[in-house]
This record gives sequence, C-alpha cells and structure tokens, in this order.
Amino acid sequence: MAASPHSFLGSWKERIRALRNIPPLLALVWQSGRGVVSGGAVCRISAALIPLSMLAVSKRILDGVQAHFSGRPLPTGFWYLVAAEFGLAVLGSLIGRVTGYFDALLADRFTRHVSIRVMEHASRLDLESYEDPVFYDKLERARVQATDRIAMVQAIGTVVQQVITALSLSIGIVWFSPWLLALLVIAVVPAFLGESHFAFEGYSLNIGQTPVRRQLDYLRTLGASKESAKELKLFGLSGFLSGEYTRLSNLLYDQNVHLARRRLVASALLSLLSTAAYYGAYAYVIYQTVLGRLSWGSLQFLAGALAGASTNIQNIFSTFSSIADQSLFLTDLVEFLRVQPRIDSKPDAIPAPRPIRDGFSFERVSFTYPKTERLVLDGLDLRIERGERIALIGENGQGKTTLVKLLTRLYDPTAGRILLDGVDLREYNVEDLHSQIGVIFQDFVRYEMSARENIAAGSIGTAGEAAVRLAARKSRAEDVILRLPRGYDQLLGRRFEGGVDLSGGEWQKLALARAYLRDAQILVLDEPTASLDAPSEYEVFQRFAELTAGRMALLISHRFSTVRMADRIVVLADGRIAEQGNHHQLVALGGRYSGMFELQASSYR
Ligand SMILES: Nc1ncnc2c1ncn2[C@@H]1O[C@H](COP(=O)(O)OP(=O)(O)O)[C@@H](O)[C@H]1O
Ligand SMILES: [Mg+2]
Repeated sequence: MAASPHSFLGSWKERIRALRNIPPLLALVWQSGRGVVSGGAVCRISAALIPLSMLAVSKRILDGVQAHFSGRPLPTGFWYLVAAEFGLAVLGSLIGRVTGYFDALLADRFTRHVSIRVMEHASRLDLESYEDPVFYDKLERARVQATDRIAMVQAIGTVVQQVITALSLSIGIVWFSPWLLALLVIAVVPAFLGESHFAFEGYSLNIGQTPVRRQLDYLRTLGASKESAKELKLFGLSGFLSGEYTRLSNLLYDQNVHLARRRLVASALLSLLSTAAYYGAYAYVIYQTVLGRLSWGSLQFLAGALAGASTNIQNIFSTFSSIADQSLFLTDLVEFLRVQPRIDSKPDAIPAPRPIRDGFSFERVSFTYPKTERLVLDGLDLRIERGERIALIGENGQGKTTLVKLLTRLYDPTAGRILLDGVDLREYNVEDLHSQIGVIFQDFVRYEMSARENIAAGSIGTAGEAAVRLAARKSRAEDVILRLPRGYDQLLGRRFEGGVDLSGGEWQKLALARAYLRDAQILVLDEPTASLDAPSEYEVFQRFAELTAGRMALLISHRFSTVRMADRIVVLADGRIAEQGNHHQLVALGGRYSGMFELQASSYR
C-alpha cells in the first residue's frame, strides 16, 4: 500500500475538494444555534489576542526592571503594568471557560440539528436507496459520523483562533527580525505534509474497511440476539461466530498497526525537524541578548513569541489537516443530504381519487431492480377492479412482493405503466396515494413502543382512542392487548425495560389492526401470516375477507384454503400472469394452480 507520488498528489486534490464540504457544514452549524455560534466566535477572537497582549505587557515590565537596575527610576505606571498582566491572565482563563461553555451548548444543538436533518431527509428517500448496499454503506457512515462532526466544528473555531494568535505573534517577531519567522514556517511545512498524508491514508483505510466492519457488526448482533439465540445454541454456532469475528477483526487490526507504525516513525522524524528549527531561532535570540543588542524585555518577548508562534503554527497545520481530513467524512453527509428521491410528486400532481371508480390496471409492466439484470416482471398485464379481492400466488421469488412495491409506488416500473382510474400512478401525489393504501408486508415492523402506538402508527396523529380500539377489535388484537398487564399502555418488545414481548401471531394481529385503522381504499396483505399455523391463518383471512367485502384487497398467501376466499385468484410465474380465475376454474384448467393445489392437498392427506 505504498503511496506513489501520484496517489499522494491525487489524495491532496481530493482533500482540497473535500474542503468544499465546509460551507454546507458551517451552514448546518449556523442553523443549529446563531446565538451560541456568535458567542463562541467572540470568545475565540478575544482569546486569540491575549498571548500577544500579555507578552507586550511583560516586555515593558522587564524593561522597567532592567532600567531600574541600571540606576534609572521605575517608569511611571509600572505597578499598573503588573496589575494589567494579572488582569489579562484572569481574563484569559475566564474566556477559556466561557468558550468551553458555548462549545458544549453548540455540541448539543448541532448533534440534535444534524440528527433531525438526517432523519427527515432519510424519510424522503426512495426504498431503492435503502435496498442498495453501496448507498446503505454511505447512509450508515453519514449517520454515525454526522454527529461526530462536532469535533470538526470546534476545530474550525480553534483554527481561526490559532491563525489570529499566530498572526499577531508573527507581527511581533517580524518587527524584530523577519527571517526568524521564515525559519519557523519552513520547519513546520514538512511536518504538516507528513501528518496530513497519514491522516488521509487512515481515512482511505477506514473507507476500505467499511464492508468488513459491517460484517463484524452483523456477527456481533447475530451472536447476541434474541432472534438467533435458539438456533445458535442448538447448532453450536457460537464458536464459529466468534472465530469468524476474531479472524476479521485481526485483519483490520493488522492493517491499522501497519499504518500506525509508519506514521509513528515519520511523525517523530518530522517533529524533530520543527523542534530543531525552534531552538535554532531561540539560541540566536539569546546570543543577540548576550551581545547586548536586545533588552531583557525583548528577550522575554521574542522567546515567548517564538514559542507561541511555533506551537500555534504547528497546531494550525495539524488542526487544518484534521479539518481537511474530517471534511472527507463530511462528503458522505453532504452527498447524502443532496440525494433527491426519484419517486416524488410532480409539481402539478393530482390527489388520489376518492372513491376509486375504476380500479388499478397494470399495462405491460416490466421491472428490473436497479443494478441487476433479471426481469422480475416481464410485460405483466393485470386489472384489479373496484371492490375486487384478489389473491396472488406464485412460488418464492416470482415477484409477488415486487408487484406490491410497484402498486404502492415504492418503485416505478422499468417499462409499461400502472393506471389508477385510468391515470398513471406517477401523476398522483405520492403521499396522498399512500394514504389510500394499507399494506402489511411479510416483514412488518414490530414497534417497540406501546400497544396503542403500534396500532395508531397506521394513521398517526389522526386516529382517536375509539378508532384504535375498533381496529384492535377487527384484527382480534384486542384479546391480546387486554391480557397485557398494562393494556393499551403496555410497552412491547424486549429492548426497553418493562417491555413485554409478543408471539409472532400476536404481533401480526397488531400489524393488521394498523392496516384496518387506516382509512384505506385498498388493503394489501403480503404473507404477513406466514408464521401462523393454517387454522389461525384461515381465521385471519376469513376476517380479512369479511372486513374487506366491497373494498379492494390484494392478499398474498401460500395456503390454498386462504386463497379460495378471494374473488379471483391470480397465478404469477415468469414475470407474468400465468393463470387466473376462481378456484374451481383453475383446478379444472389443470395447469400450474391445480398442480400446486394437488401437491399441497396431498401433504395434508
Ligand atoms: N431490492 C432488491 N434488489 C434486487 N433484487 C431483488 C430485490 N428485492 C427482490 N429482488 C429479487 O426479485 C425477485 C422477486 O422478489 P420478490 O418480489 O420478493 O418475490 P416474492 O415476493 O414472489 O417471493 C427475486 O429474485 C428477488 O431475489
Ligand atoms: Mg414476497
């Protein structure tokens, strides 16, 4: 991984480009608290001028003392100078504390502001983004590191302070001898280049390690999660998991050690250079004083200014390098905040029809997932009439869920179109369209919140208590809830203290209640009942059929007992509708459906 000169320059270009992320960052900082930001800025600027002021005062004190020893009287106001120096020292430490206070407030506000921005933005993005592992990596980095950027915000404040201090001290030094300063700057530059080079390599390494880190994360979760505990124990997998974990983390460790070693050697040598330059300048000043060309006060001033300027210049470089470095991390955040959803309402979008008069109609719809080849849907035609309940069946991976994602506009078709009441779905306002659809997916969410919130989530902010309870009765969730110690207020799940976990079937009833709560014109159940036994599923769907009578519904199930309740059964195969009709028609047809039916029926005999 030796860096060629080319990659070194390339990396610099990239880093300078990353500095473009600073203005958006500053905008975020500013938005998160104007008063706090202004207060901090005033403090830092005042603090920056204290070192020069103190040196100037103490130079005059020492010169006064030297004059006194040469037999002259103390200058007038001498003791005021001493008091002034004391005052400056007190002021300096006070300002330092107030700066810390503003920094702490800003850190809180900034973290909150960025977290909310990220959440709000994430909620607008397409499902596609979430299902793309590359994007997901980026989102993870943006999310985790966004709030860490507060260190960078403070670093920007610090660098401004350091620049002002260094400039003010340098002016003092230049006043005595310009090349003293030149010597210092020249000594610091190589150290800066070295430092930032390694910082950049560290960043690249970090990025490269992200996939492995995600794997580690997965192993860690898998090794200690409720969902996996049963299998892990019985299969005796924990040794295998921790072995994998060790192997992968050793890999990362070795890479990190390798970089850290090279960095150690290089930075030690470079800092030696800077130290030598500083002491060279210092020795020169002492020599001049010994020769009598400089006063004691000037010696004190120059020694202090050189030390101060030297540390500040070095710090400017390293702070700046850490800013440049961190601004690379910001690329993830800034790019993330710039991603615009593709599936969005047009400016002239129309509201969804209420009521739906005609129904949905898929016209030669084809679909391929982004970055894949396979045509999951291939010129599919399907109508869902008003008030019709359709059962969709097909083997795993035939595209049933995909069809639901298209119907709900989580994705747009690659070719063909989907009409609702004769109008392309893309013409409707997305949120309004969503509000007309109630969907429960196979992997529905188990909100680790109260039972009430689990249901109210179906129509958040609009559903009253009575509506929630009605929905719970419809889905039979009420029986479950009333058995809980705290009823509707019961916290569910195991994540938080006091939570009660439910069985798969019980969670599923809550999810159904969520769908029933929604004032939706079409209800979709995508195998949410897979974890139920056949009789329970039968009961759920029976109820679903009753409740959706006269409403549009799409239900996806593997069980034929369930499927028979629908007005029409649609068999999906090879990206198209292979057969459709009612149960008897399809059995009589003797095609795929009757084959699958025979197979399942025989397994019950
Ligand atoms: N986000 C995705 N990215 C790429 N391929 C996907 C994605 N989701 C599903 N697929 C693929 O699309 C096909 C259809 O999936 P799906 O609609 O979930 O099938 P079903 O619900 O009928 O079991 C499968 O081959 C699956 O691997
Ligand atoms: Mg599916």
